Amino acid sequence: MRHLLNPLDLSVEEIDQLIDLAHDIEHHLSKYSHVCDGKKLATLFYEPSTRTRLSFESAMLNLGGSVLGFSSADSSSAAKGESVADTIRVISCYADIAAMRHPKEGAALVASQFAGIPVINAGDGGHQHPTQTLTDLMTIHSLKGTFSNMTIGMCGDLKFGRTVHSLIEAMVRYPNVKFVLISPDELRVPSYIRQDVLLANHIEFKEVDNLDEALPELDILYMTRVQKERFFNEEDYVRLKDFYILNKKKMKLAKEDMYVLHPLPRVNEISVEVDNDPRAAYFRQAQYGVYIRMALIMTLLEVEKPC
Ligand code: NCD
Repeated sequence: MRHLLNPLDLSVEEIDQLIDLAHDIEHHLSKYSHVCDGKKLATLFYEPSTRTRLSFESAMLNLGGSVLGFSSADSSSAAKGESVADTIRVISCYADIAAMRHPKEGAALVASQFAGIPVINAGDGGHQHPTQTLTDLMTIHSLKGTFSNMTIGMCGDLKFGRTVHSLIEAMVRYPNVKFVLISPDELRVPSYIRQDVLLANHIEFKEVDNLDEALPELDILYMTRVQKERFFNEEDYVRLKDFYILNKKKMKLAKEDMYVLHPLPRVNEISVEVDNDPRAAYFRQAQYGVYIRMALIMTLLEVEKPC
């Protein structure tokens, strides 16, 4: 039985296979509409979510399966003090696969140790978010046709932004990928990303705080929201929340083929005037999230690809 806790749980070849399958699903959706008949997905969300939970549910429904679950800790027995370990043991009797989001780093790992079904980490605190990364990879591949030879700018909350950590871990495996890490001093990537991922893999990167200066050299700009819920005090959040706002004027500094990604939700960091720019790819990215999750569910459930 396999789980997905971290992007590195998948090899580069497996990621290629998932993206190929997701593209086939995109173009032949109806062919897949019964491959998970009779299977159930449990969505165990202890933290708010729109896209991740609903794209998982949409993915399973598109495959002919059903969904059950909870969308906040308050509406589960966590409110009564039940442990993640006990909850997942019980859910293993009710469903065939589970996607779990939890505010604590490592929660999905604990769940996987007690689960009788595959567990997918749908975000564990400020740590990792591997299915967002699969979505991001599918988007980058569709836009650029490759994962190699590119400069990726990551901008915003690089400290608490779990999607940033997962995407960096996944992208360092491809040749000649460089990073420009754009953040205020307080929101730089955690030291394990700098030391164990970037430096350990001899990846070219720089840490800067000026978006305008970085823009001209980027092939991809990955914008992120300042993660309000992970701040210890409101004052710091208020000071940092509007540090970067991507607008039309700034987009003029970027290459003609530099695409803007964002895991969403956006707050103020991308002005709505950018939405009509052909380089704004964040809504397409959200659509890919359904196809890649369909491919992932099929793969973890070992469902055969239909002919
Ligand atoms: C992200 C998350 O929850 O980590 N969103 C998502 O899953 N699409 C990013 C965020 O909340 O800012």
